[in-house]
Amino acid sequence: MRMYDLIEKKKLGEELSTEEIYHIVNGYTNGEIPDYQISALLMAIYFKGMNVRERYDLTMAMRDSGDILDLSSIDGVKIDKHSTGGVGDKVTLVLGPIIASIGVPVAKMSGRGLGHTGGTIDKLEAFPGFNVSLSEDDFIKQVNDIKIAVTGQSKNLAPADKKLYALRDVTATVDEISLITGSIMSKKLAAGTDAIVLDVTVGDGAFMKNTKDALELAKSMVDIGKRADKKIAAILTNMDEPLGFAVGNNLEVIEAINALKGNGPEDLMEVVYELGSQMIVFSEIEKDKAKARKLMEDAVSSGKAFDKFVEFIEAQGGDSSYALDIDKFQPAKYKIPVEAKEDGYVHAMKAESYGLASMSLGGGRETFDDVIDMSVGIVLNKKVGDVVKKGEAVCYVYANDEDKAKRAIEMINNATVISPEKCDHMKLIIDIVE
Ligand code: URA
Repeated sequence: MRMYDLIEKKKLGEELSTEEIYHIVNGYTNGEIPDYQISALLMAIYFKGMNVRERYDLTMAMRDSGDILDLSSIDGVKIDKHSTGGVGDKVTLVLGPIIASIGVPVAKMSGRGLGHTGGTIDKLEAFPGFNVSLSEDDFIKQVNDIKIAVTGQSKNLAPADKKLYALRDVTATVDEISLITGSIMSKKLAAGTDAIVLDVTVGDGAFMKNTKDALELAKSMVDIGKRADKKIAAILTNMDEPLGFAVGNNLEVIEAINALKGNGPEDLMEVVYELGSQMIVFSEIEKDKAKARKLMEDAVSSGKAFDKFVEFIEAQGGDSSYALDIDKFQPAKYKIPVEAKEDGYVHAMKAESYGLASMSLGGGRETFDDVIDMSVGIVLNKKVGDVVKKGEAVCYVYANDEDKAKRAIEMINNATVISPEKCDHMKLIIDIVE
């Protein structure tokens, strides 16, 4: 098989066979096919796309390029939840303990934050001592013992994706549906769960900027999941403004703790309950979604969900006294209000810019080697649709450096739109694909 012929074939919009796709993925992973040929192929795929069969083969070839977790020794239906990324997205921290406290096994591999979006693993490191690299045996044992474990992604999970993603990143071929589907779903399938619930974010702070593209991606991933015999659903959620009020690591952890104690922001809890009720239905603990949601609400109001969170932090070696007393989290040096420049309604708080502002304070990383400042970030005082008075705080910036704070405030001012016309709150759940 000559790589030249395969590039030519895709360039002309022809279908690649299963054998050809495995040849490409394996050849690239083991270094036999050079970057320049795969770059050309990626660009051909970008323009000509892949049909569902090709996408499935691409996903499976990438999944098979590394380890596949065997979670069969965990009792019950194992479920994974994945978000395509957002600003202020602390859903896993709230959702995981709630459904684990109901008996749903949560065996989750999470990532670190990059760019303007955060990552669950970074947030869990807010608890001193928390171990984010469990061995496979410890991971499985913990899920069997307490129903929840969250660990960083193992190095050899879908290694083809690591190479391909790095190449896509520098060849302007990240935003193509077949390639995104293969990248996300190969890792989800290698993670070995029986069911997957996807949170496909849409809007300014998301990867997919409009509903049409997000819906296409959601359908594509659900299609592949079903072909691989998984129970799967995708929920499209709005990411035009940050989720909840807090953006930044410690600030988001504090918000998640408050949410588990029954004081969560409405929008965050809506996403948590929508995803969670779907997960409970997949687990077969409850067949009716409305009843599943009630189970979750009861777990929060009874304190069961918060107790599970404390148990989970302790099981992974973390200092749970921080969960019991949030004042223990190191505060940032400065808390500066960003004031509204006029009376009116908040029309936009552009999520990407808020994420970038938090990152510029030191709360995010530009490359994987950057060290995060856990204490900085932003806490919103208003959401889109709220009334605001001139001089009132739209949000607060938490900073450790005055110059960085000034820059972040400027970014926030440019990303916040206030005008006299009335404006509705944002619709959060945009669509569900099953
Ligand atoms: N996240 C991934 O893991 N892969 C993509 O291609 C896009 C988002």
